[in-house]
Amino acid sequence: MAEYQYAGPRFAGNVALVTGGLNGIGRAVVERLAAEGCQVVVADIMDQAAGEASLAEIGDKAVYLRLNVCVEAEWEAAAAMIATRFGRLDILVANAGVGGVSPVRDIKFESWRHTMSVNLDGVFLSTKHCMDLLAASGASRRGGSSIINMSSSMGLNGLANASAYSASKGGVRLFSKSTAVEFAQMKLPVRVNSIHPGFVRTPLLVANASAEDVAFYERETPVGRLAEVDEIAAAIAFLASEDASYMTGSELVVDGGYNAH
Ligand SMILES: NC(=O)c1ccc[n+]([C@@H]2O[C@H](COP(=O)([O-])OP(=O)(O)OC[C@H]3O[C@@H](n4cnc5c(N)ncnc54)[C@H](O)[C@@H]3O)[C@@H](O)[C@H]2O)c1
Repeated sequence: MAEYQYAGPRFAGNVALVTGGLNGIGRAVVERLAAEGCQVVVADIMDQAAGEASLAEIGDKAVYLRLNVCVEAEWEAAAAMIATRFGRLDILVANAGVGGVSPVRDIKFESWRHTMSVNLDGVFLSTKHCMDLLAASGASRRGGSSIINMSSSMGLNGLANASAYSASKGGVRLFSKSTAVEFAQMKLPVRVNSIHPGFVRTPLLVANASAEDVAFYERETPVGRLAEVDEIAAAIAFLASEDASYMTGSELVVDGGYNAH
């Protein structure tokens, strides 16, 4: 019988990149990974000095990188920086995203394109430009390196007035599955999974929801409350860890039962 032996902090010696890591779910992921020994590169759109100041309380384990996930040249620079400064990348959490609620008739094409650009192009560019670094580091981890792409409950089911957001998150779901299969067939040691939170109490949700909307979300969620960010971060840390060594191409739903009914 295999025996479990505690081998110390799960992410000691690992390097992670978390996009959209200054706020909300991404911030909770940064804190969780750093607390478990990971060196975390935190990418976001805030300018360099303000981003660094925002991360000061986390200490040396969190390093700020200003990166707009929609801009390919910035990804090329980011991958080069990580290679030079840290020499490896074990975990990529492609979390940056934007919300938005509108009847389809009223969505401006520009706004649709912006949603797709951040939520879906950003995920594609992150994989494309980080996969070589992840593959090189994956050989030294059970199950390989890990990509966690941020989808949503709205990437599994439709919601009125959320068509652009749902379309982008549905795209993330299947991009993740396709790359998971592709990398496995290529024998690249890189796992890819998507994560599907329900309604989470974050600036993104609060900015897009009225008090009535929040009450509706609570009613629609069987456990009767919104998720807290650390509950999503815990699930992401699991997918990032060697505990998930046999998981690739899966969709991890963390939604208080929302999609179960
Ligand atoms: N809050 C929810 O209920 C919920 C539910 C399911 C999925 N999600 C997803 O989780 C992710 C994080 O959401 P959140 O609620 O924490 O949002 P948030 O607004 O609190 O944080 C999003 C972060 O992404 C950053 N960002 C936005 N555009 C960017 C860009 N172009 N380049 C780099 N960074 C950028 C923002 O600056 C911010 O720090 C998003 O992808 C969102 O769609 C959220």
